Amino acid sequence: MKKKRQYLLLSCIFLAAAVTAGGCAAAEGEKDLVYVGHNQAFDHPTNTALLAFEEYIESRLGDRYDVEVYPSELLGSQTDMVQLTQTGAIDICVASNSILETFSENYTLFNMPYLFASSEAYHRAMDDKTVTAPIFNSTAEAGFRAVAWIDAGTRNFYTVSTPVLSPADLRGLKIRVQQSPTNVQMMRLLGGSATPMGFGEVYTALQSRVIDGAENNEMALTSNGHGDICKFYSYDMHQMIPDILVANNRFLENMSPEDRQIFEEGFRLVNEIQRREWVKAVEQAKEKAQATQQVRFFYPDTRPFQEICMPMHQEFLAGHEDIRPVYDRIQEYNIQYPSSSLTEDSK
Ligand code: GCU
Repeated sequence: MKKKRQYLLLSCIFLAAAVTAGGCAAAEGEKDLVYVGHNQAFDHPTNTALLAFEEYIESRLGDRYDVEVYPSELLGSQTDMVQLTQTGAIDICVASNSILETFSENYTLFNMPYLFASSEAYHRAMDDKTVTAPIFNSTAEAGFRAVAWIDAGTRNFYTVSTPVLSPADLRGLKIRVQQSPTNVQMMRLLGGSATPMGFGEVYTALQSRVIDGAENNEMALTSNGHGDICKFYSYDMHQMIPDILVANNRFLENMSPEDRQIFEEGFRLVNEIQRREWVKAVEQAKEKAQATQQVRFFYPDTRPFQEICMPMHQEFLAGHEDIRPVYDRIQEYNIQYPSSSLTEDSK
């Protein structure tokens, strides 16, 4: 049923794109339809923030723009949505930074395990344009650019049958990772067997035991129901990977400077609202997972995981010298906002 709706929507969008031969540009006197897609549920902070974006844009430019937000992979998987945003068939979508590294290698930086020493360092770095601009603008040639970052917390391992307390516990386990070479390499180094797949396929793969576990923030347990099957969640804190709001270049560039300014304000609002909602949502997800799904939370020593992954940083930088200043800037934030104990932080 869901797939059928997806195909219907996609056909309409492709048709609209073909008719207008340039994305969703409106005929004179008509409103410009702005398609916004993401893969989270209706009650997820990302959807709340995008609905606020819709309201804001329509309150300011409602005579000319009609913003439509499609949650829950209604416009396809994240990879599909990014490709559709590239061509302009849809205008804006949310993509995990993980999958963006296949569109521009610069994004790989934010996918590095243990890149940020603490949530504070992560937030400060992501709010710093000297850090984000070289990454965010690198997909301009690919037809889209990042317009805002969205918090997706910390990624940790969760499993069906046994808790992951050290890298040795991953041996022999098939763990779902996002479709990114960095994540596959990280899993290989940590000793597990990486099984890349789209987010929407994970629940069924866990249920049928095609995989033994996955890795994600706490919301995946509740909002995506993974805690119905996985009862062990271990705070090894291996990544803080942002989600990225990306927009088609032509869509942005065809706007008048006045409209563009209002859209930029809307993009800032997405970041602001999502971050505020995120903090509450994670707390609630953890409580709910414990109380109603009987998920147990573990706080292993993160150092053995970290030691195994750290060589990935230098390996990446050796091939991307131009990104080294950005990496060094992040280290300054790590010094300024260290974490004496990552595990304590997360409790
Ligand atoms: C998080 C993230 C999503 C991503 C998902 C995944 O939920 O916010 O953007 O798609 O992880 O693991 O694929």
